[in-house]
Amino acid sequence: MSIETTLVPEPYVWTEPPLGDAKSAPTRFYTDPAVFKAEVEHIHLKKWFFAGRLEEVPNPGDYKALDSVGGPVLLVRGEDEVLRAFANVCRHRASILLEGCGHAKNIICPYHAWNYRLDGTLAGAPGMREVPKFEKPPHGLIPIRMEVWEGSIFLNYDDDAPSLMTHLGNMPELIGSHRLGDMVKTWHIEIETRCNWKLLLENAMETYHTGIVHAATVGAQRSVSFPTQGEWHVIQVQANRSIAVLGQEPPFPVIEGLSEQSRKGTYFTVIEPTVQFACAQDCMWWLAVRPIAVDRSVLSVGGCFPKAYTELPDFEERAAPYYKRWEAVALEDVGILEKQQIGLSSCLARPGPLSWRDDMVLAMNRWIMAQLPAHIVDGMAG
Ligand code: FES
Ligand SMILES: [Fe+2]
Repeated sequence: MSIETTLVPEPYVWTEPPLGDAKSAPTRFYTDPAVFKAEVEHIHLKKWFFAGRLEEVPNPGDYKALDSVGGPVLLVRGEDEVLRAFANVCRHRASILLEGCGHAKNIICPYHAWNYRLDGTLAGAPGMREVPKFEKPPHGLIPIRMEVWEGSIFLNYDDDAPSLMTHLGNMPELIGSHRLGDMVKTWHIEIETRCNWKLLLENAMETYHTGIVHAATVGAQRSVSFPTQGEWHVIQVQANRSIAVLGQEPPFPVIEGLSEQSRKGTYFTVIEPTVQFACAQDCMWWLAVRPIAVDRSVLSVGGCFPKAYTELPDFEERAAPYYKRWEAVALEDVGILEKQQIGLSSCLARPGPLSWRDDMVLAMNRWIMAQLPAHIVDGMAG
């Protein structure tokens, strides 16, 4: 059965409460450290989060260090070519081990030089031979659960969480023809923001604001929503050319074999809880949010193109206007979200009525609240 017949765009997805009664979330949803703490415990340490792309660590010895809500993480490809994820934390007295991206033969702690193999096992611990009962095998790096879908690496701190494919539900069906596994990451920035992590994702899933906030860039947009199964949401901004680049004929062709529905526009997805994959007709980009505190987040924006495009001699020249657009639009969004965060902090701020174009904001609010304990959700309103 084709995607076109199984996934039908709808004018909007709206369930109870009736439009007119639906309100934005209580301000404490975005400002209360107790809510943030509950989100870390019940959401961020239990759900899949995006950690990068396979092509960032292609060869034995390649590594990438990154931060997560659960702490510093290390992705490293072993001599056996297997990619593994570990806590980037020394088993002696917890220094972080590696920073940034690079290539290593082994992993040496910068504090007292404990030395780990690329598979995480402890190879050497200076002076520890004199320590009674010390043995190396129990002191390897602590692994983190990892699964890869179409070149994208996801991690999960909860060994009992459902698989990544269960989490993604029917997302692979809708965006499968983009063949993200054949794409290559070519660009990436990180933006520090002074707003709650949920505001960044809500903003990315409604086009109500685009004609105002993005008047100087992408301008007004219209979107349709799709029903989904799994822990994700999607809208499609419909346009018969890629909106990943501004005001010109897109420099790259439409992805070969793209489904009829996918040719109609750009999918903006949110894979709960913290990553968006936006899939245009010629590329994909991610927006991955790392919550730091109730009012601070880091937004990572990255771009991927089909491998064949990246091999064109003038690829960088063609791709540059995309990067300019993604950065400019992200900064416009961050600017308005920081204003929203300040407004939410007012003792006089109250939940306001939602527009029908806030359908995904409501859906995402509900998804989050469904993960939190009742006393936290009830306490927010009071
Ligand atoms: S903290 Fe790593 S060797 Fe001491
Ligand atoms: Fe926006």
